[in-house]
Amino acid sequence: MSQAPNEKKKIILSGIQPTGVFTLGNYIGAIKNWVKLQEEYDCAYMIADMHSLTVRQDPKKLREQILSAFAIVLACGIDPKKSLTFMQSHVHQHAELSWILSCNTQFGELSRMTQFKDKSAKHADNINAGLFTYPSLMAADILLYQADLVPVGADQKQHLELARNVAIRFNNNYGNTFTVPDGYIPKAGAKVMSLSDPTKKMSKSDSNPNSFITILDKPEVIVKKFKKAVTDSEASVRMGEGKDGINNLITIYSVVTNKTVDEIEKEFDSKGYGYFKNAVGEAVAEHLRPVRENYERLINDKAYLTEAYKRGAETASKFADRTLQKVYKKVGFIAK
Ligand code: TRP
Repeated sequence: MSQAPNEKKKIILSGIQPTGVFTLGNYIGAIKNWVKLQEEYDCAYMIADMHSLTVRQDPKKLREQILSAFAIVLACGIDPKKSLTFMQSHVHQHAELSWILSCNTQFGELSRMTQFKDKSAKHADNINAGLFTYPSLMAADILLYQADLVPVGADQKQHLELARNVAIRFNNNYGNTFTVPDGYIPKAGAKVMSLSDPTKKMSKSDSNPNSFITILDKPEVIVKKFKKAVTDSEASVRMGEGKDGINNLITIYSVVTNKTVDEIEKEFDSKGYGYFKNAVGEAVAEHLRPVRENYERLINDKAYLTEAYKRGAETASKFADRTLQKVYKKVGFIAK
């Protein structure tokens, strides 16, 4: 989407918050798929920095994390010449459309958002209005670019549903304005589980650092963490019920090697868990090696990063403004 999007191609938009480290879960569940989608769709990928302010952030740390997140997205293989890649706060239309949409979103609908309930419980001393209206901002992100498809994980489905409802409502009240987006659930949408408690999703906020792999972990650290991964007492490398640990390791191995579960079960037939865990660790380390190397190169090339995000913001603003002006006209504002 480096120019106006090609009408024949469907538009994809997704965003990622720049807070915290990126895990293997973020990579396999989100960014790796973003990379594949670039070939087939007009893609827009955004660092959702405005969303991060719904919880308190240290400005200095946030600034570093935003740039680092942008570099990670590029390091994973998002090509800013192919995909529109930008920071949300660089495109002021997001905040503006968000206001219009929040006037078309009901208090009741926002109150039903489970993430709002969870986050309010977690940050009871900072239940701010932004945390509550966050889904309107996310709807603006999506609707500004007239996205057809939105790749999201399970935790964002409810927000996407809300964006759809708001788009439909706005279209009914003011005439056709927005493309109503669909969720995009990738075929290989593997959910990566914690290495220490494989019944839980792999999470960067887990207090046990051995439970997650970060995209930038060194190879020896990756191998070590996989060696400690919790399995079961059956000692057979097979997918099965109650074998959450092994199921998770097989899934991860399958994604990074492109081998099928059948092939993997054959490969490790009669091999012990220790051997298998070591193989998974090495395969993941090898898979992430170019990402880490790219990242190290990019994060030291501030000029390149700046040029890339500036260009992204410029193109995104043009596109977003087209939608925003259309919306302003529909609601009755006077053109300046
Ligand atoms: N809310 C998403 C998250 O926390 C990030 C996000 C912001 C997003 N805007 C988006 C995802 C638009 C998809 C589309 O993960």
